[in-house]
Amino acid sequence: MIPSFFCRLHLPSKPPIVCIIAGDDAAPEVMRPTVEILRMLVPDIRFVEALSGREAQEHNGDAFPDDTREKIDAADCTLFGASGGPSRPVLWYLRWGKETYVNVRPVRWYAGYRSPMLHPEYIDYVIIRDNLEGMYPPREGNVSELGALTSSKSWWQVPPMEKQGTYAVRVCTDEQMYRLAVSACELALRRQSTGYPGIVTLGAKYSILPRTDGRLRSIVKETVHTYPSLSYREFLIDDLARRLIAAPETLDVVVLSNEHGDILADVASGSIGGLGLSPSACYGEHYAYFEPVHGSAPDLAGKGIINPTAMLLSGAMMLTYLGYTEQGKQLERAIEKTYRLGVGLTQDQGGRGSTTEFIEAVIESIRRGLRFPSPF
Ligand code: NAD
Ligand code: IPM
Ligand code: MN
Repeated sequence: MIPSFFCRLHLPSKPPIVCIIAGDDAAPEVMRPTVEILRMLVPDIRFVEALSGREAQEHNGDAFPDDTREKIDAADCTLFGASGGPSRPVLWYLRWGKETYVNVRPVRWYAGYRSPMLHPEYIDYVIIRDNLEGMYPPREGNVSELGALTSSKSWWQVPPMEKQGTYAVRVCTDEQMYRLAVSACELALRRQSTGYPGIVTLGAKYSILPRTDGRLRSIVKETVHTYPSLSYREFLIDDLARRLIAAPETLDVVVLSNEHGDILADVASGSIGGLGLSPSACYGEHYAYFEPVHGSAPDLAGKGIINPTAMLLSGAMMLTYLGYTEQGKQLERAIEKTYRLGVGLTQDQGGRGSTTEFIEAVIESIRRGLRFPSPF
């Protein structure tokens, strides 16, 4: 099957409907101006706001009211801010309820991003993260229950079932690992057509976990080999973590399990300049939603200084998904221009601008329509 970001399996309604869920803490502070800019770029889109978390609890007596679920279902896709806890049931629904199985997290440095790296100009790869399985969703229990599993007889070390303790289950289905692998290959192929090298790199702990990470390794390797123009590389996850810092220029498309992808996406984000800069998109066969890599940044809530770049770039990914490719690029170019000039940058990027000042700089850049060579 071809993932929906490559070949959309359902056409959007005309005009497209986008469900907006701002989320918790500081997330609404990046969502509001992002929607303003998206409206400006594509007046066609119908934005429908839905409540979640504390606000929904106050209005509807439920952190995830039926009304919100209905608005998500009725929309072509959802733009989500972040959950700081109260909105988690909505996040769960967007992932498992809508079966958005792959999380695409681009890692790309733009001139002006405050990266701690010596040569950030070579950082330009994409993390493909399993969005449904592995250690997610949480399934935990008491260690004393483990003896009931038939497979426990073959374990190298019997768990200390007589002791008080807990365990967590990690589930990896072939179906999910195959569609993750296909997503990575399709993305690598698409990037290759624009000049990228067509390398799919797997990072996993296949040395220690032959039946889960080892199976993922075989599936990704086998799948990449069915694409003659692509190359396959693999590294143990700890070594890959080092490579994100020591040799990011060798990476193109990186396939990771859910928990490894969660952690390494934040590391990757740190390498380009921080969480304020990293967008993401979650695609399924029948639905997609878009959210920054960062969380609800409770430490910044109410201060008006949160960096909206990650949210804006997630919005740009959404425009591309909806078919507004040119407007998506226009937004990316405006952000790129703003950083290149260093106008209105927020504190995390070494500037003194507020969220609003940065947004004004991006709007100004869109209005001027100054063009840069497209990265695509
Ligand atoms: P976080 O990403 O919210 O913040 C980590 C650090 O990065 C903080 O110092 C924060 O100020 C900074 N930061 C984050 N976004 C920024 C931005 N746009 N501009 C400038 N600085 C930014 O992670 P956390 O503090 O570990 O988690 C807070 C909450 O968010 C937790 O409840 C966590 O579970 C949740 N979370 C949700 C999502 C999601 O909804 N997809 C993702 C990650 C974390
Ligand atoms: C992310 C977040 C989430 C995750 C949390 C909020 C459940 O950290 O999207 O990166 O762990 O997937
Ligand atoms: Mn995370």
